[in-house]
Amino acid sequence: MKTVISTDRAAAVELLRKGEIVGLPTETVYGLAADALNPIAVAKIFEAKERPRFDPLIVHLPNEEWLERVAKIDNRSHAPINKLVTRFWPGPLTLVLDRRSIVPEIVTAGLDTVAVRMSSHPVFAEIISELGKPIAAPSANRFGRISPTTAQHVLAELNGRIELIIDAGRTQHGLESTIVRVRGNSIQILRRGPITAEQLSEFAKINIVAASTQKISAPGQLPSHYAPKTPLDLIDDAKSFSPKNDQRVGLLAWHPRKGDLQIAQRRTGDRRSLQFLAVRNLSEQQDLREAAANLFRYLRELDALGLDLIVAERVPSQGLGAAILDRLERASHGYSVAPEMPE
Ligand code: TXA
Ligand code: MG
Repeated sequence: MKTVISTDRAAAVELLRKGEIVGLPTETVYGLAADALNPIAVAKIFEAKERPRFDPLIVHLPNEEWLERVAKIDNRSHAPINKLVTRFWPGPLTLVLDRRSIVPEIVTAGLDTVAVRMSSHPVFAEIISELGKPIAAPSANRFGRISPTTAQHVLAELNGRIELIIDAGRTQHGLESTIVRVRGNSIQILRRGPITAEQLSEFAKINIVAASTQKISAPGQLPSHYAPKTPLDLIDDAKSFSPKNDQRVGLLAWHPRKGDLQIAQRRTGDRRSLQFLAVRNLSEQQDLREAAANLFRYLRELDALGLDLIVAERVPSQGLGAAILDRLERASHGYSVAPEMPE
């Protein structure tokens, strides 16, 4: 199958109607989309991504009216959910709610809950409203790999496995949506993302569920996610890092550098002793939004260089920094605690 990158939205709608899968931009990362109500179409997502069937998908809604068609909301949760939806939709907030039977089991991996969101991306919004149905869409990468933030990344991941990728340039947030479970007056954060714990704490008590303790409640929060092929280590500051002999190291930097670190050499002047063979600065201005938007692209770029090691400087853990740190930790090679899988 030949994979085409284009901006032909009508072609995307046509393919979705026919039960095919398409790469689509969202405001977070690119998604691999299928008609969520067509189980055979959804099965193609799992196949193309090589995603295990126990890992449920997010259902994207054409509008808020669809919310109660796909999910049951108990009385206690009505008010808090309404507030969250009013404040953050359309946008990068995914709600885990009780599933209605209209949602095929393959979408939710047999769970009795369904994850729903409404994308604010104008291209995605146009396509889904034309389709008039919910769209199931995980990130458009092969399972366990870095999420795509450009159409070219999607091509690199899924070339030959899908017919069409709609190109709308780089995604705005660069990190996958925040996933929450609302229980009465408390909000459990299942996956950190662009909507921060601080923002959510205005609405309810926050409870952050550590990835390593998540079992059946969020089977997809697998630690192996976001893994580059190159080993990655988290460090506090590159100033106090020195590579081992001949080790070829790339730096994903947070701290501003003075001038020529890119070509920083030890006194020998030997090219092989360059401290870092490549440097990507997450944000010159130390702006967490910019850092988040650049994160996956820079990880891919560094990973493509065939280095021995990538070192990444920790970003501050406040606000959006927590979501960036979460992705870096999952990408790091020391991070391999396997949570229990449901049978
Ligand atoms: O920003 C995003 O959320 C992107 C764009 C494309 O919308 N999508 C995305 O999907 O990141 P995906 O499949 O890569 O990640 C969805 C996560 C998975 O880890 C999955 O396990 C979890 O959501 N999930 C889905 N349904 C769930 C449920 N019912 N309960 C708990 N976790 C769920
Ligand atoms: Mg994903």
